[in-house]
Amino acid sequence: MTIFPSDEGDGDNSDVVPGVDPATAPLVDLQNVTRTVILPDDEELHILRGVDLQVRVGDHTAIVGRSGCGKSTLLNILGLLDVPSSGHMSFEGTPVAKLGNNARARLRGSSIGFVFQQFNLLPGRTALENVVTPLMYGTAREFWRRNQIGMDMLDRVGLSARAGTQPHMLSGGEQQRVAIARALVRRPRLILADEPTGALDVDTGQAVMDLLDAIATESGAALVTITHDLNVAARARSRYRLDAGVLTPAAALAEVGA
Ligand SMILES: Nc1ncnc2c1ncn2[C@@H]1O[C@H](COP(=O)(O)OP(=O)(O)O)[C@@H](O)[C@H]1O
Ligand SMILES: [Mg+2]
Repeated sequence: MTIFPSDEGDGDNSDVVPGVDPATAPLVDLQNVTRTVILPDDEELHILRGVDLQVRVGDHTAIVGRSGCGKSTLLNILGLLDVPSSGHMSFEGTPVAKLGNNARARLRGSSIGFVFQQFNLLPGRTALENVVTPLMYGTAREFWRRNQIGMDMLDRVGLSARAGTQPHMLSGGEQQRVAIARALVRRPRLILADEPTGALDVDTGQAVMDLLDAIATESGAALVTITHDLNVAARARSRYRLDAGVLTPAAALAEVGA
């Protein structure tokens, strides 16, 4: 446990929280988190209402909810792309509210990988070029070794033979596997997937989830999947239901649906 922040490092010592042990703290801890936006007519829209959620290393968590219930807003907060309007959030024991934009972006880049419904691959770049993109912003070692690291990742998703292929020449399932390789190339501790099977047929979606589960397990990362697909939710070890911005644990799969 770090009690006395040292003078070394990159000036981020204000992030160290006395009394919080990063080894036992949840990876992400949300307590009574809200997200409210002010609409043009000055009305308040309460998108998230008092969300409590803990994600620990190795967890596979599914969050299920209807369109418009606040899923992407919650995912953006978990991914340090957005901040709560009120409540408490910490990432590896560090209160997110204490981080400036740059520190938040650095933590996001080094610790979080995103997988999106629409893959979001860069057109006109090869599969390998897409996979290595996050390494451009990584450590010097990651930068210089980027092609080797990228090829290893493509190999893990079974696509090393397609390294030189552009996304439009790949099937949907292959594009999502490239996107998974890109999301994991910096070995994030948290993987956030927003409807990762939403643009795929059922069988391809199952194969993509098999891969995502396996890679997350193998690398010891936590996986949070947002979905309205009950088959996807069924695979997770813990499940929640999000309904009009209210998050509730759902022990049985039947509680997730409806
Ligand atoms: N910045 C914003 N300004 C106004 N309304 C927003 C904003 N972000 C989200 N919303 C609204 O909040 C609700 C929840 O959005 P979202 O989190 O994207 O839901 P989901 O991903 O579950 O479909 C939607 O009604 C959406 O239109
Ligand atoms: Mg959404």
